[in-house]
Amino acid sequence: MILHTSYLILRIVRILGIETSCDETAVAIVEDGWRVLSSVISSSLGSFAQRGGVIPEYAARAQVEMMVPVLREVFAQSGRDIASIDAVAVTYGPGLLGSLLVGTTTARAIAHLWKKPILPVHHTLGHLVSTWLHAEGAPDISFPILTLSVSGGHTDLWYRQNVVTGHLLATTRDDAAGEAFDKGATLLGLPYPGGPSIGALANRGNELAHLFPEPLKSDSALSFSFSGLKTSLKYLLRDGGSTLSSADVAASYQYAICRHLADRVLRALRANHGIRELHVVGGVSANTRLRRMMTDVVDRSITLRFPEKKYCTDNAAMIASAAYFLHQQSQGRPAPQFVTKATDELASALRT
Ligand code: KG4
Ligand code: ZN
Repeated sequence: MILHTSYLILRIVRILGIETSCDETAVAIVEDGWRVLSSVISSSLGSFAQRGGVIPEYAARAQVEMMVPVLREVFAQSGRDIASIDAVAVTYGPGLLGSLLVGTTTARAIAHLWKKPILPVHHTLGHLVSTWLHAEGAPDISFPILTLSVSGGHTDLWYRQNVVTGHLLATTRDDAAGEAFDKGATLLGLPYPGGPSIGALANRGNELAHLFPEPLKSDSALSFSFSGLKTSLKYLLRDGGSTLSSADVAASYQYAICRHLADRVLRALRANHGIRELHVVGGVSANTRLRRMMTDVVDRSITLRFPEKKYCTDNAAMIASAAYFLHQQSQGRPAPQFVTKATDELASALRT
């Protein structure tokens, strides 16, 4: 099934988005790719705070329990009913298998019962469109865009010619930036997720108290690497950390992660002339220190954008938005594949 193209031209397109790739049960209703009527997120994260990460089986069970209440809430907040929805967008991957199945099964059930088309969305593409979600109006974005996508699962640099097509310039050789925060927090005895915990402690510390080694310093490639930083932190805490306060260590570690990201972005901007905008998206883009550092990286000819803080971490509004742009781009033909992974098989299965 596919949305009729004329809908896109003649009237508002309203999409129900479902996102369950990790610990969250997220549902949202978005119009025309940017106007969020409602976005509800229920998270089981609290139960994992002291365990250093998400336990897949627990997460999926919580999602089975929360899906119907969250759906009810999203419709109640939007003031719309299911009849007014044009299509159901759902994250098909990557993510925790059991969790993804809760979302995709729900989407299939809604699509079947109410005769709605399903639009499968890659989770990464959701993050990449999160800068389009705005309360005031559709943003006027100029291309090409350089996008740094930083979360717990990936650290990627994209060169994008339009909303849904792009070229992957670089990725991480080992851990993701969010993973560096999460693993660092575990070493520091801070709760999961590590980004916000380290950020809060770092606010009270001196980021120049300890200088961590710069990853891939003499490497000319744009790739990222974070596992060395984590190892340095481990040895610092074991051998010399006692002379530093934990706030100083957290601030220095956060600074090292952000400096590495900023260094790669700067290199990419220098190598790719003509870039009009820099977008920084994904859970780590909520980091205040990273945001400040990115403003130092761009000159006045480049527009710097971040998602609103509530759309940095996983949410369903970005999935509904991505589905809108994918469909708009494809104009009734099969949507272009932005990212091809093994889970694309699930996407094709959902379309049939
Ligand atoms: O995008 P996201 O919600 O989920 C994934 O797709 O992975 O990102 C979660 C990641 C976690 O690693 C978390 O520690 C990190 O984003 N994160 C942050 C902040 N908020 C979340 N990292 C740094 N500073 C933050 N304020
Ligand atoms: Zn994510």
